[in-house]
Amino acid sequence: LRKIWLTRHGESEYNEMALIGGNSNLTPAGQIYARLLPDAIVDRVPLTLEGGTMPVSVWTSTLKRTIQTAELLPFPKLRWKALDEIHAGMFDGWTYEEIAEKHSEEYAARKRDKLRYRYPSGESYMDVIQRLEPVIIEIERERECVCVVAHQAILRALYGYFMKVPLADVPRLEIPLHTLIELVPTPDGRMAEERVPFN
Ligand code: F6P
Repeated sequence: LRKIWLTRHGESEYNEMALIGGNSNLTPAGQIYARLLPDAIVDRVPLTLEGGTMPVSVWTSTLKRTIQTAELLPFPKLRWKALDEIHAGMFDGWTYEEIAEKHSEEYAARKRDKLRYRYPSGESYMDVIQRLEPVIIEIERERECVCVVAHQAILRALYGYFMKVPLADVPRLEIPLHTLIELVPTPDGRMAEERVPFN
């Protein structure tokens, strides 16, 4: 059976400073994750009936942190703009605290309806779910294993789709850094899940 792996990029400089969005580089901790990921995936590639290993393709966003995380994976890579993180519009580069302080009405609106709240000049989770549709169609059409190296909101949306999570719960799904999520389709049409944390 083919596998789908989902992982966030390794820790980025913006993660470390608790800033939203941006296009920062990996931190040293993030680089360590990028160095550990290849062995973990290579060990998990399923065998074919002929005794070989199944082909794998790696999909990243166009942002540096996912490209750097995927760099050492020994498989063909594809960059998707549709995998870029949710666009925070005017709040790109802010902290949640700053938003709460200076734009408390926006902060409260997002808290109230995180699924539908659209950042001023940016996106909502609903927007993200819509732009991921072509990616989902490709993953479903694909016969190879796919490793998606992306971002928190993006992976919430993809995970939510594959695991049939109710839409309202998608924006609060737990998708931690430095954790590989392995999804394997089961004969009953569901997905079996394993989470591999790296410490
Ligand atoms: O903090 C990392 C990050 O990927 C941000 O760039 C992004 O805005 C955020 O997570 C998405 O998570 P949430 O929807 O919970 O703010």
